Amino acid sequence: MGKKYAAITAEVIDTKRPTVAGTDRHPGWHAVRKIVERVTTPLLPDDYLQLANPLWSARELRGRILQVHRETEDSATLVIKPGWGFSFDYLPGQYIGIGLLVDGRWRWRSYSLTSSPVGSSGSARTVTITVKAMPEGFLSTHLVAGAAPGTIVRLAAPQGHFVLPDPAPPSILFLTAGSGITPVLSMLRTLVRRNQITDIVHVHSAPTEAAAMFGAELAALAENHPGYRLSLRATRAEGRLDLGRLGEEVPDWRERQTWACGPAAMLNQAEKVWSTAGVGERLHLERFAVSKAAPAGAGGVVTFARSGKSVNADAATSVMDAGEGAGVQMPFGCRMGICQSCVVELVDGHVRDLRTGREHEPGSRIQTCVSAASGDCVVNN
Ligand SMILES: Cc1cc2nc3c(=O)[nH]c(=O)nc-3n(C[C@H](O)[C@H](O)[C@H](O)COP(=O)(O)OP(=O)(O)OC[C@H]3O[C@@H](n4cnc5c(N)ncnc54)[C@H](O)[C@@H]3O)c2cc1C
Ligand code: FES
Repeated sequence: MGKKYAAITAEVIDTKRPTVAGTDRHPGWHAVRKIVERVTTPLLPDDYLQLANPLWSARELRGRILQVHRETEDSATLVIKPGWGFSFDYLPGQYIGIGLLVDGRWRWRSYSLTSSPVGSSGSARTVTITVKAMPEGFLSTHLVAGAAPGTIVRLAAPQGHFVLPDPAPPSILFLTAGSGITPVLSMLRTLVRRNQITDIVHVHSAPTEAAAMFGAELAALAENHPGYRLSLRATRAEGRLDLGRLGEEVPDWRERQTWACGPAAMLNQAEKVWSTAGVGERLHLERFAVSKAAPAGAGGVVTFARSGKSVNADAATSVMDAGEGAGVQMPFGCRMGICQSCVVELVDGHVRDLRTGREHEPGSRIQTCVSAASGDCVVNN
């Protein structure tokens, strides 16, 4: 039997709520909620709000999937209407967290916004994300093939440092591959709106031309804006781009501010090439996945001191996943070691950094999304 994916409705409000980075952006709203809570006790204000509209929640950000439309065979754009409390003043290149209730457990993933923040200020007030279905991927396959319009999802506020300054630098290189096009698309759409397409070279790789997300939009952009030059590489026929020979394609790449997003191998090579050329500070990277070291050891029992829960976790399972699996409210943001939203104190025992293999001592502050138990341990959460 397939996985059961549940739309979030008013009936599931008793499920544990994770603590999401960014939902505390409006302290005034929190104060109002506290007052209303006193008036409405024993029912919480959320209970009344949700009776009226499942998008209304004072405790968490929510959104309704309005449309799902295919971009390519294995990718789709989701148009989401966020509910109360969502701030549309995000920056092009930032990402949101999206949470779906699957088999009674909240599953969260991060997705770059493909919409332009300026465009979101219209009456529709929607945002878009574009998801590529990962083979074996738990949530992405569902979002591409099975998410139904009308589904209510939880949202984590936009965040991230992979952003375009305003005004944009005079000359830009966008280096993208596969789904790594998504944050750059938001940047491009924003630059078009700002009329700032002055000197942009965009080198994008996809397995084939048909598999390139937003292929038609990029081609139209190139046709209508002389300041935008697109070089689309179909890797199945032409092979992968060798960044060591980037000068053949983009002779002045060293002078350009570069935003790069794509598979780890491409980004790792970019880091080497830019740093060897002494222009590392001109390279801005966004990674969608963490490179993990081989799991070592047998894991252990993780105890969450403040919630009083314990769970057995293997050496490959992050403390965050272990906690969420046990129903502990874990703070989180990117879920991949970038944003520091998940940092808690390691009270006792040791944890291992899943990226580097490095062990952390008791008393240190650990990122739960990229740390796994190395023997029994206690965290202050
Ligand atoms: C800041 C940020 C922005 C992101 N933006 C987008 C976006 O705009 N569009 C998009 O499609 N995805 C994006 N992602 C990736 C997304 O969050 C999920 O990781 C991805 O959709 C896979 O989720 P899943 O549940 O299907 O796979 P999982 O069930 O979590 O993993 C399945 C398998 O695939 C591997 N895997 C997971 N993600 C990747 C990856 N990206 N590359 C290689 N291997 C991977 C896992 O290690 C595992 O083996 C972003 C990630 C981050 C951190
Ligand atoms: S959630 Fe961002 S670093 Fe852990």
